[in-house]
Amino acid sequence: MKIYRTQAALAQGLAESRGSLGFVPTMGALHDGHLSLVRRAQEENDAVAVSIFVNPLQFGAREDLSKYPRTEEADLEKLEGLSVDHVFVGEVGDLYPEGFCTAVVIQGEVTQVLEGERRPGHFDGVCTVVAKLFHLFQPDRAYFGWKDFQQVCVLRRMVQDLGFPVELHACPIEREADGLAMSSRNRFLSGADRGLAARIHEALSQARKSVRHGQADVARLCASVKERLAGDFEVEYVEVRDELDFGRVESLDSHPGRARMLLVAKIGGVRLLDNLLLNPR
Ligand code: PAJ
Repeated sequence: MKIYRTQAALAQGLAESRGSLGFVPTMGALHDGHLSLVRRAQEENDAVAVSIFVNPLQFGAREDLSKYPRTEEADLEKLEGLSVDHVFVGEVGDLYPEGFCTAVVIQGEVTQVLEGERRPGHFDGVCTVVAKLFHLFQPDRAYFGWKDFQQVCVLRRMVQDLGFPVELHACPIEREADGLAMSSRNRFLSGADRGLAARIHEALSQARKSVRHGQADVARLCASVKERLAGDFEVEYVEVRDELDFGRVESLDSHPGRARMLLVAKIGGVRLLDNLLLNPR
């Protein structure tokens, strides 16, 4: 496994790589969710590259960048364990040297609602860093998790609009044994809240079950998930959106196999994101 700490070293290392390249961008604090993307990339490519970079551009003024977990040594061990070919550990001074002032801004509803509305500038920061990383790595395929549903939709838009020559792949959400979606934020949950957090996936699964039993009223489905979580969580939003174009789903029948229910529920100050396909084929 080769480790690079500058763009120049990375370019040199990648120049010697042969065959197709799969790329997994991350902010580190790696868990099995991240590693599932790496495994998928390994199945589909000759070589795999992973980036670890806590991107300051995607953190808002009210979000604490310094609190983001950094576990570089353990991360590198996990990647070594999977025999990843190339690892880039990005540094702010190298990626954003003095004078850096370019941004990739995706306009339109996909960046303006839900996470975009609550975290102004967040998706500009994501798009700017991912565009830069795509230029640096020039991968054939790039892998992202459905865990961040809106991020997948925003990046698809960017790849299509700007014509990046990369195939974007969205991968299933990895979960803990009790259903909680794996996330670097889970470590901030207290013991009691960690127990309750499993109820988020339970509520989503219940909605999917109702759909299977014939419930097609989207507003009713969202209201019942909110009700289930209301006592223990502060529910920021529950919505159903099309996984291809992020369009709001009014009727499940017109979005066969593509209607995802997504929500954010807060407990003990920790924002937990999750989503589930309501009508899998
Ligand atoms: P990060 O939060 O580190 O996530 C890196 C990738 O792992 C993302 O594509 C995310 O959706 C995926 N992921 C996280 N938890 C997952 C889970 N439980 N199951 C499957 N995949 C999961 O997302 C980012 O970093 C950044 O915004 C980034 C794209 C790297 C740009 O800075």
